[in-house]
Amino acid sequence: MNGERKLIVAIDGPAGVGKSTTSRMVARELNIPHIDTGAMYRALGLAALREEVDTHDETALEELTERTQIDFVPGQRSRVLLNGDDVTALIRTPEVSMAASDVSTVPAVRRVLVRLQQQLGHRSGGVLEGRDIGTKVFPETPFKFFLTARPEVRARRRFDELVGKGTFPDFATVLSETLTRDEQDSTRAESPLTYDETYTVIDTSDLAIDEVVAAIVKRVRSLC
Ligand code: DC
Repeated sequence: MNGERKLIVAIDGPAGVGKSTTSRMVARELNIPHIDTGAMYRALGLAALREEVDTHDETALEELTERTQIDFVPGQRSRVLLNGDDVTALIRTPEVSMAASDVSTVPAVRRVLVRLQQQLGHRSGGVLEGRDIGTKVFPETPFKFFLTARPEVRARRRFDELVGKGTFPDFATVLSETLTRDEQDSTRAESPLTYDETYTVIDTSDLAIDEVVAAIVKRVRSLC
């Protein structure tokens, strides 16, 4: 480190608010890496499923975290490695989503992954998307955004995404899974999904992605 302050943009919010697409586009506009922190929790969730570790057993998850290597490689097409294997495509199933939400409640898991996120951010700067970037990972950054959207809008987006991948989900199930995951992510004791007055909150329900991206980039540039 040469002491130079890297540009860190925190984009937090629940599933289905358009965080990933928005973050990727903001990163491209600002010419800094896009760092998807949810992918890291997903990789550990996948590890738990593969090794048949109970995702509600905190001690077992702590041990799993200690013996598991997770790497995130930013880039045009960022990749997540689990013990050296590229699992980027395998971590997007509903089963892994739920496992990721479960493992993310465990303090030891968060400690390890937050450290990894801080190292990546310090090294190259970046747009970090997640749930606790502005509250826990980089609380000192002045660039914090919290994206929200009505639950039905978020479930519809998730539904369309799954249909796009060739599956035929039931909308009511997608909505109920969205609400369950929101509830778990927002009420957990450790780093719950939340924001404070240092954030700019953007309701994306009735906005096009381009409009959200433009609002974020404009604000970052005005503060730089
Ligand atoms: O953003 P996502 O759906 O890929 O995230 C998967 C899970 O990981 C989500 O249920 C909450 C958790 N998560 C977290 O607790 N903290 C983060 N910074 C990112 C994700």
